Amino acid sequence: MAGSVIVVVGTQWGDEGKGKLVDLLSGEADICMRFQGGGNAGHTVVNDFGDFKLHLVPCGIFNPDCICILGTGTVVDPQSLLEELQTLEQHGVLARNMLVSGRAHVVMPYHKLLDQVEDEARGAYRVGTTGRGIGPAYTDKVARIGIRISDLLDEVILREKLAVVVQRHNALLTNIYHQPPLDLEELLSQALAWGRQLRTRIIDTIPLMRLALRAQKNVILEGQLSAMKDLDWGSYPFVTSSSPTAAGAALGSGIPPRDISRIIGVAKAYSTQVGTGPMPTELQGAEAENLRKLGGEFGATTGRARRVGWFDAVVTRFVTELNGCTDLSITKLDILDNLAEIPVCTAYRYKGELLNDLPDTAQHELCEPVYEILPGWQTSTLEVRRLQDLPYNARAYLDRLTQLVNVPLHSVGVGPHREQTILA
Ligand code: IMP
Repeated sequence: MAGSVIVVVGTQWGDEGKGKLVDLLSGEADICMRFQGGGNAGHTVVNDFGDFKLHLVPCGIFNPDCICILGTGTVVDPQSLLEELQTLEQHGVLARNMLVSGRAHVVMPYHKLLDQVEDEARGAYRVGTTGRGIGPAYTDKVARIGIRISDLLDEVILREKLAVVVQRHNALLTNIYHQPPLDLEELLSQALAWGRQLRTRIIDTIPLMRLALRAQKNVILEGQLSAMKDLDWGSYPFVTSSSPTAAGAALGSGIPPRDISRIIGVAKAYSTQVGTGPMPTELQGAEAENLRKLGGEFGATTGRARRVGWFDAVVTRFVTELNGCTDLSITKLDILDNLAEIPVCTAYRYKGELLNDLPDTAQHELCEPVYEILPGWQTSTLEVRRLQDLPYNARAYLDRLTQLVNVPLHSVGVGPHREQTILA
């Protein structure tokens, strides 16, 4: 990797295993920046330091020479960040290279409260959010009443801004949601305390990134979730409030789109989703239970049982095209090791018509998957480290997925540990 900007994005509904790939790629990275989202992420990383579920900290943190940054497009809960850094340090991971963009927005305690009461109030259109305050923090950003990380360093500005927000949210919280009112002084002193603790980590990312690009440094832009949960392109309204795409990476990092050299899309060898929204290949009953158990599919952030299903090539093709993916990384292949047959969704049937392209949310809800049944390999792949050593049917499965998605293979995950990766 010599002087490159690599974007890593999900190509399903999130939880594809991006964390593991970013951890691996970061071994050679100078900078690893998260460009959107916040503590709603649950990036699982298993390496020699231990077994981690990172919610905010970029997965490059395990390389002591890699500068990790929460970019301008993120929303940051300072309390969660401080706790996550403490946990990492307790495991011997030096987090002194962890920086935060002063332009990123703060997830305040009232955002978490609003997230819960507002999602309940959506009725049939309940999103099933992670409850981490992500949506309300982005809502305040767009409404131009957000608190930015740099505001935490200035009591005068912070007091003025908070006074406006508190008045506005109190009207909503007390009258509509019957919650106790927010206390300005309490919020102010909490926020100033966060500012004091994070002071040395808060930066203007622009000069640093400009220098890095000029010096041909290796940069990884780490995404959370996937375009299926993108505010514009996902299954609206069952989406998150940011843009987990390569375009979002340019926006949230401040790196010009033309400087992006590679876009790696990550896809699990089957499908999972947390939260509501269409999922044509979703399994039910014992079949779902079995796949969920095999894959350990429980949310890293919420602990919720993930919805599970077969690989949906229509979804991953849509997402990789939208992102312009140059590479495809397939994860958790080993989870399918014992199956005799593996269905893959190649197209949909919608009102009797065959669809090769993803329709919008309401039609997507009604699509039925058209399956091709591929033979399983019924051999463990956990120890395999080279493509040519995979069982024939496992190779054939990967070949069929990359052919359907039309993106070349970058790597294959055959276990949770960093080492359990086959580079194509
Ligand atoms: P929010 O991002 O918490 O607002 O939730 C919006 C949608 O994205 C919901 O369907 C969540 O379950 C889903 N979601 C958010 N973060 C993650 C994640 O890291 N993995 C999987 N789903 C997520």
